[in-house]
Amino acid sequence: MEKKSIDPARIEEQKALCGRIAGLIGAESGRPLALVDTYGCQQNEADSEKLRGWLALMGYGFTDNEFEADVIVVNTCAVREHAEMRVLGNVGALNHTKKAKPSQIVAVCGCMVQQPHMAGKIKQSYPVVDLVFGPHELWRFPELLLQVLTGHKRVFAAEKSEGVLAEGLPSRRDGKVKAWLPIMSGCNNFCSYCVVPYVRGRERSRRAEDVVREAEELVAAGYKDITLLGQNVNSYGKDLEPAVSFPELLRRVNAIPGDFLIRFMTSHPKDATEELFRTMAECEKCAHQLHLPVQAGNDRILKVMNRNYSAEQYKAKAALARRYMPDLVLTTDIIVGFPGETEDEFEDTLRLCEEVRYDAMFTFIYSKRVGTPAAAMDDPFTRADKQRHFDRLMEVSNRISAEKHRAYIGRTLRVLVDGETGREEYNLSSRTNGGRLVHLKGEPALIGQFIHVKITDGNTWALYGEPVLS
Ligand code: 5AD
Ligand code: SF4
Repeated sequence: MEKKSIDPARIEEQKALCGRIAGLIGAESGRPLALVDTYGCQQNEADSEKLRGWLALMGYGFTDNEFEADVIVVNTCAVREHAEMRVLGNVGALNHTKKAKPSQIVAVCGCMVQQPHMAGKIKQSYPVVDLVFGPHELWRFPELLLQVLTGHKRVFAAEKSEGVLAEGLPSRRDGKVKAWLPIMSGCNNFCSYCVVPYVRGRERSRRAEDVVREAEELVAAGYKDITLLGQNVNSYGKDLEPAVSFPELLRRVNAIPGDFLIRFMTSHPKDATEELFRTMAECEKCAHQLHLPVQAGNDRILKVMNRNYSAEQYKAKAALARRYMPDLVLTTDIIVGFPGETEDEFEDTLRLCEEVRYDAMFTFIYSKRVGTPAAAMDDPFTRADKQRHFDRLMEVSNRISAEKHRAYIGRTLRVLVDGETGREEYNLSSRTNGGRLVHLKGEPALIGQFIHVKITDGNTWALYGEPVLS
C-alpha cells in the first residue's frame, strides 16, 4: 500500500531545489517568464495555482504571451475528448513559439497525460514537449523541471498511482476575492462514463485541521468567497481517523470569525444528506447554492451509469434541500447521448429538468473515454441524434434560467463584487449568495466588498443591477 501523504521533509527538499533552479535560470538578472495554461475543472485551477506557486518560488515571473515564455505548462483535462483535442491542437502550435525561442521548455501535466495512451501519444508525436507529469507528481514539479534544465532530455513522469496528498505546497492564487480550497482528491464512485477515478486515483481527504488552517489564512488575507473543492465533497473525511463528516467540516469553517461566504462542489446526490442541508441552512456563512449533478432523468440510464440513485430519489433530495433553504440556487450536470439512450429515456431527462427547474444546467454530449465501462457499451445512435437531444435540452435549460433570472427583477440583494468586466455600461461583476452573476455599474473600489444591489434586468446568463445605499 502506497503512503497516503507526502512526508513534509520531501516537500522541503523540493523547495530547496527551487533555489537551485533560480540560480540556473538567472532569476536574479533576467527575470525569466512562465505561462500556465489551464483546462477543465476548478480542481485543475487550484492545481495551476500551485504550479504558479512553485514557479514563483523558482524566480519566474508570469506572462500571457507564449512567445515570451521561458516555460509553458499546460495543465490538461481528460473528462471529455473535446478538451483533449484543444490541448493537442494548442500544444502542436507551440512548435512555432519554440522555433522562435529554442530554449523554451514545454511541460504538459494533469489528467490527460495520466492516461498511458495519451502520454505515449505525446512521447511519439509531440517532440516539442520536454516534460510530462501526472496529477500525482505535482508536489515534485521542481525536481522534474530541474531534470529537464540540467539533463537536456525529455522527462516523463506519469506512473500509475493510487493518488497522494501533499501539504505545504506554495500557491499563487489568481484573485484576491474568491479562492479555491481543495479538501480532498480523487474519486471512488466509478460512474461508468467517467475517467476521473482512473486518472486522479482514490479519494483522499485532507485533515480537517489543515483545511481549517488554510481557510483561516484565506480569511486573514481578505478572501471573501471560499469554495471547498472535491470530486465528491459529501464523502469527505470517511478515510480520516477519526472520521470527520463534510457537514462537520462546514461547521468548523463556518466558525472562523469574519464576513465571508463558503461554497462547495461537487456533491454526489447519493451522499447528499439531510444533515448536509440542515448544516447549510444553519451556518450563516454557507451559501445557499448546491451543485447536484443528476446526469440523467431515466432510471435505466442512471443504473448503467452506476449512479446509485433513481430519478425519484434525486427529486426527493432536491425537494428536501429546498425545504431547508427555500432560496436555494440549484444547478446540475447532465450527459446526453449516453450509449444506448433512447428517445423516451432522453424525454425522462427533459421531464426531470422541467420538474426540478434548475437555476443553471451544464450539459454535455457523452464522450467515450478509454478504459471506462461505458466505452464498451453498444451505441446504435448517431452523433446527429445526440446533437438534436443536446439542442432540445439547451433550449429547456436556457428558458428556465431566463425565467428564474427574470423573477429576480425588482428585488434588492446582497452581492459580493468580485471583478471588472471590461465593459463600460456594466463595468463590475458580482455574485449573489447563491452564486448568480450580477453585472453592475460602480467604482472599482467596490471590488471585494459585499454591497446591496437592486436587480433591474435578467436573462439566461446573468442578472443586471444597480447598487443601492444601505
Ligand atoms: N462524457 C461527457 N460528459 C462527462 N462528464 C464526465 N464524464 C463525461 C463523459 N465521458 C461530465 C459529467 C460530470 C461533469 C464534470 O462532466 O456531467 O458531472
Ligand atoms: Fe466522475 Fe462520477 Fe467521480 Fe464525478 S462522481 S468524478 S462523475 S466518477
